[in-house]
Amino acid sequence: MTGKPEQADRAGPCHVAVIMDGNGRWAQMRGRPRLFGHHAGARRVREIVEACPANGVKYLTIFAFSTENWKRTQTEVAGLMKLFRRYIQSEARDLHASGVRVRFIGDRVKLEAKLVTLMDELELLTSGNDRVHLTVAINYGGRDEVTRAAKRLAYEVEQGRLSHKDVDAETLSRFLDTHVLPDPDLVIRTSGEARISNFLLWQSAYSEYEFVDTLWPDFSAEEFGKVIQSYTRRERRYGGVKA
Ligand code: FPP
Repeated sequence: MTGKPEQADRAGPCHVAVIMDGNGRWAQMRGRPRLFGHHAGARRVREIVEACPANGVKYLTIFAFSTENWKRTQTEVAGLMKLFRRYIQSEARDLHASGVRVRFIGDRVKLEAKLVTLMDELELLTSGNDRVHLTVAINYGGRDEVTRAAKRLAYEVEQGRLSHKDVDAETLSRFLDTHVLPDPDLVIRTSGEARISNFLLWQSAYSEYEFVDTLWPDFSAEEFGKVIQSYTRRERRYGGVKA
């Protein structure tokens, strides 16, 4: 969706997106391999998902693997793919029982077939849930997403189903992976880095950002709650002036 996020300013954020950064450093500080940090990071995901309803968060979108992350070593990439598979297998039942609707965004073409099958199955299993909407970005990049959307849009024009005159922000956003989601109200990045790193570029046009120093495996539900609280004190104007 494009334009104003679902909920007005002063209220809590309806949609929170998280760049879960710092797993590698967390592991390094303990003299352990980077994958050890990713496993610790995966354990935090559950805690933050569970903390959403109490904080008024209906949509949570997390950045698990970017289109640039393929540049990491083969060991790390393969370890992450295996972790995603295991995570889906071990968490599916509990996520479903907790009323979590899971979606995946990103380009699935490059992902291994067995992972894609698990992703499809989890989306289907949880498709009737509405307590929390968890979206996991895997092989996701904002530029890649907009490029894929533009390609599909161009194809519709080529086929005569759309005219170039119909192309506006609203039309383009219907071709994005996130077309069923509201725009994020708040984007959190852990680990002290202050970058967007190609995450939800289109959708975060008016999002608030919060950069916290905590490494993702140490990011607790309590700290999540504090970040949400501090958001409610912000004033959002969407390019306008104070009311
Ligand atoms: C960034 O930390 C983190 C990632 C690229 C992977 C995120 C994955 C998880 C949190 C684990 C599992 C997620 C799910 C949904 C099961 P980094 O490796 O770049 O850390 P660094 O900056 O300290 O090196």
